[in-house]
Amino acid sequence: MAFSLPKNSPMLSSSFLYGVATASFQIEGGVEHRLPCIWDTFCATAGKIEDGSNGDVACDHFNRWQDDVELISSFGVDAYRLSISWPRVIKQDGTVNQQGMKFYIDLLDELNAKGIKPFVTLYHWDLPQYLEDDGGWLNRETAYKFQEYTKHVVKAFGDRVHAYATLNEPFCSAYLGYEAGIHAPGLVGKEYGKKAAHHLLLAHGLAMQVLKEFSPNTLNGIVLNFTPGYAMSDSVADQEATKKANEYFNYWYSKPIFDGEYPELINELPEENRPDIHENDMEIISQPMDFLGINFYTRARYQAHPTEMFEEIIVEGVERTDIGWEIYPQAFTDLLVDLNTRYNLPPVYITENGASIDDEIESGVVNDVRRINYYNQHLNAVNDAISQGVNVQGYFAWSLMDNFEWAEGYLKRFGIVYVDYQTQVRTVKASGLAYKKLLSERS
Ligand code: FCB
Repeated sequence: MAFSLPKNSPMLSSSFLYGVATASFQIEGGVEHRLPCIWDTFCATAGKIEDGSNGDVACDHFNRWQDDVELISSFGVDAYRLSISWPRVIKQDGTVNQQGMKFYIDLLDELNAKGIKPFVTLYHWDLPQYLEDDGGWLNRETAYKFQEYTKHVVKAFGDRVHAYATLNEPFCSAYLGYEAGIHAPGLVGKEYGKKAAHHLLLAHGLAMQVLKEFSPNTLNGIVLNFTPGYAMSDSVADQEATKKANEYFNYWYSKPIFDGEYPELINELPEENRPDIHENDMEIISQPMDFLGINFYTRARYQAHPTEMFEEIIVEGVERTDIGWEIYPQAFTDLLVDLNTRYNLPPVYITENGASIDDEIESGVVNDVRRINYYNQHLNAVNDAISQGVNVQGYFAWSLMDNFEWAEGYLKRFGIVYVDYQTQVRTVKASGLAYKKLLSERS
């Protein structure tokens, strides 16, 4: 099975960048060579991870990285998106852990030697635990610690990097981590979410300053995720509720960056749930960027609620991936067009997109037809957005390989490569072969 895009699609040109993506905590293991992070603590707390697992070994990428780079290279990708583990490269006293830094430098050198452009994410959720002990993202100081960490990384990496993203999905860090309690550090309370979000956005802005000064030749930006909300009906009440949900979950992160202000909804939040905004914060947050990374998986449905601002409805009878997310590629096109209308966007890269499928390996073959269909539909959705004028420059499949899927542990597989966690054997799935074919057929 193969992917098929319209013949004249710019996504079939070799100038459109393709890659695969991972994140440090999800694949590395090598836990004994770094300080603990909030996900180690969260995993050690009973009941937080579906299968009771942790990131101690994960895909053992820390020891197998050379083979993994070969694997990445075998797809013919232009780029590889990885993240840096902050507690691997910085010691508690704020100085550099040279061994940890060397791990990434060697990896980056190998990628560059193979002509693969490194897209580095500075924060994909593995906050050092010692910073959480001081309040984590509820503590404004953490944003300044992130700025220092960024400076160390950028100086050490020199010219080895093609693009830097400050944060991956601040929505997940702030909302899932500090409001819903589904992710580390697992705090629950509406009074926490937006405060954490503000400090994350501030951290992004402060890191952008450092990147501009010390790494002017890389593409510097951020990765945001969007789960576009659609109303359950045309009623004014449902439409209004959905608008609020979109402001609360989606535009909360994009509007400050592009417009230098929070969505209107901020005025409706009770005082105690609002962020603590200092003078100049919004200017720091809204500096120009070289690119916007967009992660897309699914949409959500909302309706009005008698006492809450909105209510999410899980609709029956629609097609979903194994993680329960509705398959609705039209939302991807709609989202890209919507963002392009709202903001003066820099070039866009799709930094994550993919599907969790209940894969089975039989005689060394994983025939993940449903994932192939998902990718095919979503690549075409991106193509539709491009033909409607959105400047999308690249696309990364999530993920290179099956890995630690946060609160779901190892139960959900997103890879285009199958990982046998007992043996660490990697097997390219049918979707991986289809991806490789698409990339090789570009002109
Ligand atoms: C995103 C995360 C990524 C992965 C996918 C499935 O929210 O950025 O690490 O877990 O979801």
